[in-house]
Amino acid sequence: MKKMNIGVLVSGNGSNLQAIIDRTNEKSFPAKVSTVISSKAQAYALQRAQKHEIPCYAVRKKDFDSQASWEQRILQILHKHDVKLIVLAGFNKILSASFVRKYRWRIINIHPSLIPAFCGKHFYGMKVHKAVIDSGVKITGATVHFVTEKVDAGPIILQKAVQVKDYDTPETLCERVLRVEHEILPEAVRLIAEEKIEVVGNRVNIKTEVCV
Ligand code: GRF
Repeated sequence: MKKMNIGVLVSGNGSNLQAIIDRTNEKSFPAKVSTVISSKAQAYALQRAQKHEIPCYAVRKKDFDSQASWEQRILQILHKHDVKLIVLAGFNKILSASFVRKYRWRIINIHPSLIPAFCGKHFYGMKVHKAVIDSGVKITGATVHFVTEKVDAGPIILQKAVQVKDYDTPETLCERVLRVEHEILPEAVRLIAEEKIEVVGNRVNIKTEVCV
């Protein structure tokens, strides 16, 4: 079985990257991480990649003259490692529309809420969990979706709910949400690599799931 090459884009701790690496290390998993690219030089995610001997790169936007030249460098690395699927796993930069069009339905993102709630340009990191708690909702969760030109608005692949508990802090909630992120992100990679995903309009159908 030829495994699908994936490129994981990160900016921080990389616990989602770790979850993907752990799943891809299973013999029957249909994808492998062929490269990791970080927008930050100090990201712990880079150390995780090195530990598993995955070629990794820090490509900081501030080292380039423009968004286009920064993205050009990322594209070069993705081509070098023959990446077929890009996974944004805690990547804190927004990719341009022209980049997204080059990889149509081949970029996915994990977001720490149930989209379309608590998402968009201003909702990232701990801000999401703080907003969830302040709003008083009792349920939140995580979403894996395709990346399109509009931030956090692409077709949803998988979602999983998490209960917001009384006295939760953004930190305790984040921890619980991360646990489900670590389940659904590798699972979405598997479904894509096994060609089980079909996008119809803004809807994703999973080919094995038969509706009765
Ligand atoms: C995750 O909560 C992810 O959803 C968000 O940033 C966090 C990254 O965590 N976009 P990690 O770097 O994978 O540990």
